[in-house]
Amino acid sequence: MIIDSESSVTRAVLDAMAAAPNERLREVMAALVRHAHAFAREVQLTEEEFDIGIDFLNRIGQATNDSHNEGILFSDAVGFSTLVCLLNNGQNGASETASALLGPFWRMNSPVTGNGGSIVRSPTPGPVLFADCRVSDPHGQPLAGVEVDVWQASPIGMYENQDDSQADMNLRGKFTTDAEGRFWFRSVKPAGYPVPTGGPVGELLRAQRRHPYRPAHLHFLAFKPGWKTLITQVFVDDDERLETDVVFGVTSHLIGNYRKRTGEAPPEPDLTDEWYSLDYGFVMEPGEAKLPNPPIK
Ligand code: BEZ
Ligand code: FE
Repeated sequence: MIIDSESSVTRAVLDAMAAAPNERLREVMAALVRHAHAFAREVQLTEEEFDIGIDFLNRIGQATNDSHNEGILFSDAVGFSTLVCLLNNGQNGASETASALLGPFWRMNSPVTGNGGSIVRSPTPGPVLFADCRVSDPHGQPLAGVEVDVWQASPIGMYENQDDSQADMNLRGKFTTDAEGRFWFRSVKPAGYPVPTGGPVGELLRAQRRHPYRPAHLHFLAFKPGWKTLITQVFVDDDERLETDVVFGVTSHLIGNYRKRTGEAPPEPDLTDEWYSLDYGFVMEPGEAKLPNPPIK
């Protein structure tokens, strides 16, 4: 088709892509082209703005490496990751979702840790946290043998891969639920933290006068063959930024009860000060068990 004006470009592109044998590729690419063209028409995109956009995308790629994923960060910061997560979990709004975005900091091969063990692998000052969690099926029956990855930022708001002062794999661990569906561990209370702002996404946030912080949370990835992999986060209930998470990850179901405990016999002898506890129950649905691509190595 010879293009004679702006109005015929979209049709020409859709026609050119229409013979793709992969039906899903056809559907997704046609919708992408329709929406992208409609977007350019709606905002009457200028050539200068087009150049800025392409440069932004190129720099996202250039800023991505084995230990940093700027592409995911961009998707997170514009709410796209959470949208995809909510579309694919919680039956599209029919039930309260237990899922939250993966984020850019999950690593494969977290250290296998026995229940009751600590994920603090190098000195990490901060309030001690004991987490006692359960995994059950939708009928409340305990699920045994679920492998649960846990990862979190330190009380100064840094993941170990961002912070040379922490040991490799500090504040990461892989647990297995027991016959009652329980797993439990010792850690430190996580703190809120700014997402990395040294790249193009940071520029965007500053231009939009947005703060870069996430409210404090623990991450969980629960995996068991025959069950839909559950990726989620449990947020600290006293965090002042629950309503303004820069990546829109907080849903009401995911606000945990992190209880400050004082004046009680501490659960472990080295504790004299106050400590925190978290009790939380996860529900997994039957479905496909598959791991996401790790955003970093
Ligand atoms: C995280 O929770 O680890 C995270 C999520 C999105 C962007 C940055 C960090
Ligand atoms: Fe996080």
